[in-house]
Amino acid sequence: MAVTILGIESSCDDTSAAVVRDGRLLSNVMAGQEVHRRYGGVVPELASRAHQQHIVPVVDRALQEAGVTVEDLDAVAFTQGPGLLGSLLVGASFAKGLALARDIPLIAVNHLMGHVHALFLEGPEKSPSFPFLCLLVSGGHTQLMRVTSPLEMETLGKTIDDAAGEAFDKCAKMMDLPYPGGPVIDRLAQEGDPRRFSFAMPRVDGLDFSFSGLKTSFLYFLRDELKKDPAFIEKNRHDLAASLQDTIVRILMEKLIAAVERTGIRRVAIAGGVSANSALKKAVTTAGKDRGWEVFIPRPRFTTDNAAMITMTAYFKYQQRLFAPQNITPRARMML
Ligand code: KG4
Ligand code: ZN
Repeated sequence: MAVTILGIESSCDDTSAAVVRDGRLLSNVMAGQEVHRRYGGVVPELASRAHQQHIVPVVDRALQEAGVTVEDLDAVAFTQGPGLLGSLLVGASFAKGLALARDIPLIAVNHLMGHVHALFLEGPEKSPSFPFLCLLVSGGHTQLMRVTSPLEMETLGKTIDDAAGEAFDKCAKMMDLPYPGGPVIDRLAQEGDPRRFSFAMPRVDGLDFSFSGLKTSFLYFLRDELKKDPAFIEKNRHDLAASLQDTIVRILMEKLIAAVERTGIRRVAIAGGVSANSALKKAVTTAGKDRGWEVFIPRPRFTTDNAAMITMTAYFKYQQRLFAPQNITPRARMML
């Protein structure tokens, strides 16, 4: 019997629904929220209201595109956390209601685990085998995982302050660039010189990361230069973007290489919003060639938040009958 699962992701500002059948993705629909752009960040109140408006049409379209009806569903999944509580609540309530109405199992998914499972969306042939290392880099998290089976992940190291995506976004904001800054920096950096400016590299033991020093160093640097020339940012935006991006990528790569050396695992993946970054993808691919790693990078549409990855996690949980009770609550903070 085929197993068909509907999954909902609503942890931040995008409402997304996806259908997975027997581990294969049938549809993945997304509705973004333009409302936040003018505020330079996500406004939680506006986000939950927009989720409420989007969720029914997004689910409808996901079912339609998959060619299934609610009667065909064997389970319904939702992102339990981490994320914005009000936003999570919309997805959780919808999923609970549907599970109750259809009398099907409810599956709660950890958003971070979902990011890792984006690597399994290209079909079994292209998925990493176990064990593999995964550098999980998103707007809120930066951690190095050893993944030993679909649902067994161990954190080898993580950021002690800001996340990599946060470093991109905050530094972009200092440059007056629109939110989210990561993709904008990436684009500007294409025409910039990554060696033009240098910023502080952190000294953190083991496999942990730190990005707050870079943020401070970037801020002071801009402040000093702007005193000399108020048009400094405008004149140097490409080189600034390229140099900043290069520093972030070097911080990430240093620890990724150390993790491979420490564990001896040569299957290496990246996941999360920042894994869409072209310099990071290039650095991992090159390191893979030079060092004999097997490298896995999710397609761009699966790197930023999406329901496809959440539904893939749900598929793995379904196989182990890891279902959630009706009284389960969303959680703003959750670890992997
Ligand atoms: O995983 P994600 O969609 O949301 C979280 O779970 O946090 O990640 C969003 C983060 C943002 O910080 C965004 O700036 C960053 O991913 N990002 C990028 C790129 N695309 C998205 N950072 C650098 N380069 C990109 N191309
Ligand atoms: Zn995410």
